[in-house]
Amino acid sequence: MNLILETLIFICQLLWIFVKSTIRWILPTKYKSVRDEVCLITGAGSGIGRLMAMEFSKRGATMVLWDINESGNEETADMIKRRGGKAYAMTCDVSDREDVYKMAEKTRKIAGEVTILINNAGIVYGKDFQSTSDAEIERTIRVNSLAHFWTVRAFLSSMIDRDHGHIVTVASVMGLFANAGMTSYVSSKHAAVGFHNALELDLQSKKSYGVNTTLVCPYHIDTGMFKGLTLRFPDLIPPLKPEECVERVMHAVLTNQKMIAVPRAMYLAYNAATWMPQQALVLLGNFLGSDQAMDSFIPNRDYQLDTKIKD
Ligand SMILES: NC(=O)c1ccc[n+]([C@@H]2O[C@H](COP(=O)([O-])OP(=O)(O)OC[C@H]3O[C@@H](n4cnc5c(N)ncnc54)[C@H](O)[C@@H]3O)[C@@H](O)[C@H]2O)c1
Repeated sequence: MNLILETLIFICQLLWIFVKSTIRWILPTKYKSVRDEVCLITGAGSGIGRLMAMEFSKRGATMVLWDINESGNEETADMIKRRGGKAYAMTCDVSDREDVYKMAEKTRKIAGEVTILINNAGIVYGKDFQSTSDAEIERTIRVNSLAHFWTVRAFLSSMIDRDHGHIVTVASVMGLFANAGMTSYVSSKHAAVGFHNALELDLQSKKSYGVNTTLVCPYHIDTGMFKGLTLRFPDLIPPLKPEECVERVMHAVLTNQKMIAVPRAMYLAYNAATWMPQQALVLLGNFLGSDQAMDSFIPNRDYQLDTKIKD
């Protein structure tokens, strides 16, 4: 084809995508059905993982719940079953590749092929770079980033074969920009964001348009994971209520949105981090108290209190 004609078609296609995205942004979009889908959520034993499980179950999905915390996970399954939903709780350490593959086989046998995969399990040690041990750094990367590779490898092929599925990556705004006092967490979440972006392009290049992806980047959520985190002006952007965050996530997933930052002010912060001079960002962090925010962190999860963590 003539290069000029090809370029004209390319520009028209580009403009059409912008028009479509704007229309989609303005007009209410219809929710897709998840009835009878098999939805696997990692880290379903507490926090937003549990709440997402309740929401998907309410809409008729069969839930597969993975968590390293057996009792919390069973509790989520009981809550779902008491409300008439279908749930299978399985104890799985997502940082352990072999355990993931073993549990994936078991999942297939008892619940069928997974069609919605939500990589939500995550950890934070809340220590600055110098105070974090080698083992804590490794574990953070294994749970928050590497685990996504293992779970997606376990379930993506069948989604591609059927050209049907959805992979949700729960990262964080800390995957879009950074904050002091959480080097390993920030690094692990940047890796999760990179994983989502690259996977999405892989799927598009293979024309697997039926397999959707959604990247979730929330700000501080009041689940206890970051207990004690304090900013200088806490009312400026208060911590998200878990329910409020999950409502936004459900909307994004059910409308096949590619990426969501919650609250919306985080899009602004993300944008500013890409063009503001580094010195200005440091000054801003200093003024808002974000550079000291983790100083008041209160470890409360079992792994955060575990002083004997091994490599
Ligand atoms: N809480 C926040 O402020 C916040 C902000 C942004 C992003 N996030 C992300 O949202 C996700 C959920 O966070 P939350 O606030 O609900 O935390 P949470 O601590 O309440 O829940 C995390 C769950 O992951 C499970 N888990 C931890 N390690 C695991 C492993 N190796 N294998 C399987 N399960 C494991 C835990 O047992 C727990 O049930 C995380 O990925 C977190 O990084 C949280």
